[in-house]
Amino acid sequence: MSAACHGADEATGGWSLTQRNAVVLAAGLGTRMKSRRHKVVHEVCGKPMIRHVVDHLKASGVHRIVVVVGHLAEQVRGVLGEEVEYAVQEQALGTGHAVLQAAPLLEGTEGQTLVVCGDTPLVRPETFQRLADVQRRTGAAATVLTARLDSPAGYGRILRDGDQVAAIVEEKDADESIRAIREVNAGTYCFDTEALFRTVRRLDNGNRQGEYYLTDSAAVLRKDGLRVIPVMLEDAEEMAGVNDRVQLASVEDAMRRRILEGWMREGVTVVDPRSTYVDAGVAIGRDTVIFPGTLIQAGTRIGEDCRIGPNARLSQTVVEDGVRVEQSVVLGATLRSGCAVGPFAYIRPGSVVGIGAKVGDFVEVKNAVIGARTKAAHLTYIGDADIGEDVILGCGTITVNYDGERKYRTRIGDRTFVGCNSNLVAPVSVGADAYVAAGSTITEDVPDGAMAVARERQINKEGYAEKLKRKLRVRQMRSEESRES
Ligand code: UD1
Ligand code: CA
Repeated sequence: MSAACHGADEATGGWSLTQRNAVVLAAGLGTRMKSRRHKVVHEVCGKPMIRHVVDHLKASGVHRIVVVVGHLAEQVRGVLGEEVEYAVQEQALGTGHAVLQAAPLLEGTEGQTLVVCGDTPLVRPETFQRLADVQRRTGAAATVLTARLDSPAGYGRILRDGDQVAAIVEEKDADESIRAIREVNAGTYCFDTEALFRTVRRLDNGNRQGEYYLTDSAAVLRKDGLRVIPVMLEDAEEMAGVNDRVQLASVEDAMRRRILEGWMREGVTVVDPRSTYVDAGVAIGRDTVIFPGTLIQAGTRIGEDCRIGPNARLSQTVVEDGVRVEQSVVLGATLRSGCAVGPFAYIRPGSVVGIGAKVGDFVEVKNAVIGARTKAAHLTYIGDADIGEDVILGCGTITVNYDGERKYRTRIGDRTFVGCNSNLVAPVSVGADAYVAAGSTITEDVPDGAMAVARERQINKEGYAEKLKRKLRVRQMRSEESRES
C-alpha cells in the first residue's frame, strides 16, 4: 500500500500547498451492535475498526486528524491515544452536528477537510486521495463518494443534477421515486474547509429523525451557487459500513480477502484462502507456504521459506526463515531459523526455539530458551528453563518448575542427554555432556560429564511367579472347602 504523501507539491520541496485535514465521526451510539464496547473499537482482522480508518487516512497524506467522540469516548481514546486530536459531541444530534464540534480545532485553516465515518474501514487510501484530488482540481466546495448498489436500502440517495450532486436524501425522508435511485452516499466526503464549517452552521433538523444531517450540506452549498461533485466507486464493497455484527462479519471477510491477496502478490503461497486468517499488520516472507486452517494473528512476523499449518495458530510471534509449524499453537515466542514445531505442540510466551531445534508432539514450552539443534520430540513439559545446544530431552521429560507457591528455573548444559520419563525438580542444573538415566527424579545439581541415576534400584525375585501361583491355588481350594461344609 502506498504511503507517500500525495498532498506534497514538488515545487515547494515536498511541502503541500493544501492543508489536508480529516474529521472522523465516531460519536454515534452504535446501538445495533448490542455491545458494551464502542462500535469502532471492535476489531476487523485483529485491528480496531477505527485504526484501519486512521491508518488509511495517514497513508493518503492527511496532515491533521480530528476524531469526534461522545458515547464511550474513553474506549476510542484508549485505541488511538495521542496520535490524533479529539472533539467531543456531548449528544448525538446528527452527523452535521458532529462535524461542527471539530470547528474550534479546524475552522480558519485553509485547504481541504475529508469527512469520514469511523465505521467504514474498507475505504482505501487511494480513494481518500482521489476524493481530495478531484476537490482540489475542480475547486468544488465538496466531493461526495458514491456507489451504485443493487440494493440501496438504508443509504442516503444521490439526487443528480447533470454531473453534480443536487442533494442527498436519507432513506427515511425519501419518497418512492427517490428510494428507487440506486446511487447512494458512501458517507465519505472532501470539503473545502472554509465552505464546510460555514455550511454545517446553517443546517437544521427539520427531518424525520430530528437530526442535523451532514448530507443536507450538499443542497445548501448548491443553493450558494457552489459545486458539489460525485466521485463514484468502482468497487462498491469499499463503502460497506458496520452497523451490526452481521455487517461486521462481512467487512471482516472482505478485509481478510484483501490482506491474503496482498500477501499472495508478494510471493506467499496461500493454499486455501477460505480457511486462512491473517491479521492486519502481520508480515510474511517470500516462498512461505500457508496451509489450510491457519490463523496468523497480530504482532506476528514470518520469514521466508517457512511452512505454516495446517491448523496452526501464531500470535505475537517472530518466525525466522525455513521454519516448519504444524498443528500447533505458538504465542509470544521466537522460532529461530530452520526449527520445527509440532504436530500438536504448545509454545507459550517468553519462549525461544533455537536454530534447527525440534519441538515435537505433545510438548509444551513456556518461558524457556531451547538451544540450537536440541530435540524434545514428544510428551515433554519445558517451563522456566534454559536448555543448551544439541541436547536430547527424552520422551516424558518434565521440568518440575512449581512448588505450589513459586516458580523456579531448570538449566541444562550443551550436549546433555536426558533419559525418558525424568523429572527435573527446579531449581536445578544439569551440566554439559551429562547423562540423566531414564526414570530419574533429579533434585540435586548434576556436574558436567556426569551420569545421574535417581530412581529405585531394580530387584529381580527369581522363580517368584511359580511360587505365587501355587499360593493362590491353595487359597482357592480352602475357600471352596469351607463353603461346602
Ligand atoms: C450516513 C449518511 C447516509 C450514508 C451512510 C453511509 C447522514 C445523515 N447519513 O447514514 O447518507 O448513506 O452514512 O454509511 O449522514 N455520528 C456521530 N454523531 C452523530 C451521529 C452519527 O458521530 O450524532 C457518526 C457515527 O458514529 C457514524 C457516522 O457518524 O460513524 C455515521 O452515522 P450513522 O448513524 O451510522 O449514519 P447512517 O445512518 O449510516
Ligand atoms: Ca453507518
